[in-house]
Amino acid sequence: MLSVRDLDVRFPAARRGQEVRAVRGVSFDIPEAGRFGLVGESGSGKTVTCMALTRLLAGFPPPIIRGQVRFGDEVEDLLCVSDRRLNHIRRHGIACIFQDPVASLNPYMTVRTQFRELLRLLGAPGDDPCRLLELVRLPDPLQVLDSYPSELSGGMCQRVSIALALAGKPRLLIADEPTTDLDVLTRNAILDLLRDMSERSSMALLLVTHDLGIVGHLCDRVAVMEQGIIVEQGDTEHIFSSPRQPYTRNLLSAVPRLGSGSDAD
Ligand SMILES: Nc1ncnc2c1ncn2[C@@H]1O[C@H](COP(=O)(O)OP(=O)(O)OP(=O)(O)O)[C@@H](O)[C@H]1O
Ligand SMILES: [Mg+2]
Repeated sequence: MLSVRDLDVRFPAARRGQEVRAVRGVSFDIPEAGRFGLVGESGSGKTVTCMALTRLLAGFPPPIIRGQVRFGDEVEDLLCVSDRRLNHIRRHGIACIFQDPVASLNPYMTVRTQFRELLRLLGAPGDDPCRLLELVRLPDPLQVLDSYPSELSGGMCQRVSIALALAGKPRLLIADEPTTDLDVLTRNAILDLLRDMSERSSMALLLVTHDLGIVGHLCDRVAVMEQGIIVEQGDTEHIFSSPRQPYTRNLLSAVPRLGSGSDAD
């Protein structure tokens, strides 16, 4: 489904600053319906990896991106296809939820208009946005549809952006910290929804998170990033039970174990 080989991202020195090598030789594969977790400390290159492989990275001077990215049956490298082809693939195959949900919504359009525009682009103008908003557990979908993003809370915006991402029935969903601003019940519901979508619609998932608990709950494979490099990757169960790298062991030891030692009931 997705194959990333030797991905390298450099931000050339802007003004008098130093060049930043944000991603170095990153390779991984996600099969159809596979759920892949990308973890690592802040600044390790997770977001840059996701944005680079979908060619959403911008900047001045522009970042230098090397490597190969193959998606689905596409014969061409995603890093080299024309913008037109890339837009088509993005619209019908890959959806993204990024870290800042408010920034990913258009502040000048109501949620209803944003759904209308998107569904028209997707060639599915008859689809019901209310159903999508219910899927992400938004309690009053009609009111949300008539709101502007600034009238919604951060968590509500996050759920709207997840609903928009799911509207195209993507074959791959890239979700960068998709549940950061959510309360624990909604967070669990969204994670269950993502699992459900991946099982029922064979949707693959690339999930970026700091939370190894979420990875354990949702992902079958995991990669650990440190300073732009994947230092360890493999089956989640295997990595969790026998981490090779001291860095992975540190990350795992930092996961709070709720209820540990009190499994009597
Ligand atoms: N536009 C940019 N110009 C220069 N450097 C950048 C740019 N975007 C990101 N970087 C640098 O690339 C590195 C990786 O950043 P990235 O956003 O991928 O981290 P991250 O792992 O997603 O962190 P977090 O968990 O905090 O979201 C950081 O050192 C960051 O400063
Ligand atoms: Mg990030």
